[in-house]
Amino acid sequence: MSSIPEYMTAKHRECDEFFSEAESAVAEQNWTLALSKWQQFASELTEHLAQEEDVLFPQFEQATGMTSGPTQVMRMEHQQMRALVQDLDNALAAKAKDEYLGLSETLMVMMQQHNMKEEMMLYPMMAQHLTDGEQLVEGFKSSQVA
Ligand SMILES: [Fe+2]
Ligand SMILES: [Fe+2]
Repeated sequence: MSSIPEYMTAKHRECDEFFSEAESAVAEQNWTLALSKWQQFASELTEHLAQEEDVLFPQFEQATGMTSGPTQVMRMEHQQMRALVQDLDNALAAKAKDEYLGLSETLMVMMQQHNMKEEMMLYPMMAQHLTDGEQLVEGFKSSQVA
């Protein structure tokens, strides 16, 4: 059984890995590999954001009564990340290498800052307040597509 911080932090690392593999492939103009890594990244990220927004954030808000605090900030940042993912998706489809690499840099910085806030602050707070954290993680694991 893993805790919320352990499991969610490991998912950040998995996303980072696919993301940087996609970026390297684009730099080498290996478009087939880039697309496959990009799609793995995008689906991992989509699932991760949904686990936060649909399960963890509401549970945390309910447990703490903090509905306009850190979870609201995280939700807004998710929207910014999604917009960049969409732009990157378009750049990749157009095989626009320079545009992709520029956007990729922006998203990487944004994700690093976002993930750090979750890992240093929000996930530890969740572990403290959500007594059924390990069961929630088990639920994530069993509903995983890949
Ligand atoms: Fe997040
Ligand atoms: Fe996260």
